[in-house]
Amino acid sequence: MLKLDISKVAPFVSTETINAYAEGVAAALQSLEDGTCPGNDFLGWLHLPSSITPEFLAEVKAVAATLRQECEAVVVAGIGGSYLGAKAVIEALSNSFQWLVNDGKSPVILFAGNNIGEDYLSELTTYLKGKKFGVINISKSGTTTETALAFRLLKKQCEEQMGKDAARRVIVAITDAKRGAARTCADKEGYKSFVIPDNVGGRFSVLTPVGLLPIAVAGFDIDQLVKGAQDMEKLAAAPFAENPAAQYAATRYALYTAGKKIEILANYQPKLHFIAEWWKQLYGESEGKDQKGIFPASVDLTTDLHSMGQWIQDGERTIFETVISVENSEHELLFPSDEENLDGLNFLAGKRVDEVNKMAELGTQLAHVDGGVPNIRIAIERLDAYHLGLLIYFFEKACGIHCQLLGVNAFNQPGVEAYKKNMFALLGKPGYENETEAIRKRING
Ligand code: PA5
Repeated sequence: MLKLDISKVAPFVSTETINAYAEGVAAALQSLEDGTCPGNDFLGWLHLPSSITPEFLAEVKAVAATLRQECEAVVVAGIGGSYLGAKAVIEALSNSFQWLVNDGKSPVILFAGNNIGEDYLSELTTYLKGKKFGVINISKSGTTTETALAFRLLKKQCEEQMGKDAARRVIVAITDAKRGAARTCADKEGYKSFVIPDNVGGRFSVLTPVGLLPIAVAGFDIDQLVKGAQDMEKLAAAPFAENPAAQYAATRYALYTAGKKIEILANYQPKLHFIAEWWKQLYGESEGKDQKGIFPASVDLTTDLHSMGQWIQDGERTIFETVISVENSEHELLFPSDEENLDGLNFLAGKRVDEVNKMAELGTQLAHVDGGVPNIRIAIERLDAYHLGLLIYFFEKACGIHCQLLGVNAFNQPGVEAYKKNMFALLGKPGYENETEAIRKRING
């Protein structure tokens, strides 16, 4: 299961203060259930896990099987909520050296459409030259520049290398049911397609085909992922005392109110790096509005103890730390003994590497708490699909609750448009003539 430990917050914010938010949390839970909260047309994620049927999962797995059978590589094109969940789960479940150990039985999973790097795209298309590759084009709006650019390049290359008919078998669209360029293109070309429900926003969409299809193509168990989310859906509806998502939300809000404006999500498993990236988008894009919100940051430990450790220990005391701890590692490896013992580490010989890692985690927690950093600990039993499902829904539900405590609409992202408007004005997009003139004057003086 998933265990939440907030005991190391007590020196900074009392348990009574946190528990005092139980009523506000109950009201937030109720308004999510009743659909009366701001942004209530985007609550499709709330009961998404329990609404996923075996038939739907079978359909996703069948499409994944075709891509796995026919492709050496599959490129997932998408940005933000249209790629981070899949990337996070795939990276968490993959061998750390997947590129090197790939036995050719599974396609290599690549990601594109999440940047405008000319070198990135050139190197990707060069790598794909002569390969049988498929594309999963993920865009709810169908108009996102980064994704549309990558899809143009990949579609063309796929058709040139395999022919239009064969390309049709390995290009899949995940998009709106009716609207947008990706939908029009999929219908016109006859691609297999999946729908992103209208009422599920990008950053809450990992349990829709947006996440499930790439994860299944990578060969991971989406039944277990969904099962974990379903179990957490039940738990995260419980009253405050038994509800870890509610308690996490209340604790964050109590810390925020006490001046802790930055949350650092820390992990002790490099494979969790992209879980933190997914989490940062979920919380950053949901909370950061109306000049409010906890700034979500992340570190990979122990790696970053040698870069960010100083700041966390001694810098401005406006931070708190949330650690994701994995209780059991999947492999067993012992610390080796060395005859010369030049590094003086023979006292560790014969110990599990994970035991050393756990002591690093505990030692760091105590040091950071001593240094004035409140600590929240979220423990999962192992790093498998089931526990990732638990974790994903836990964070989603806590985010929905916390945004209401903050008094912001969790489900819009008006701030994301500002850069797009400027970029289109600078690039002279038709329809942006006035903006183009204004921005050129502003730049040229
Ligand atoms: O969470 C969100 O809504 C965003 O991050 C979107 O997922 C992202 O901007 C991509 O949008 P789209 O799927 O429309 O291409």
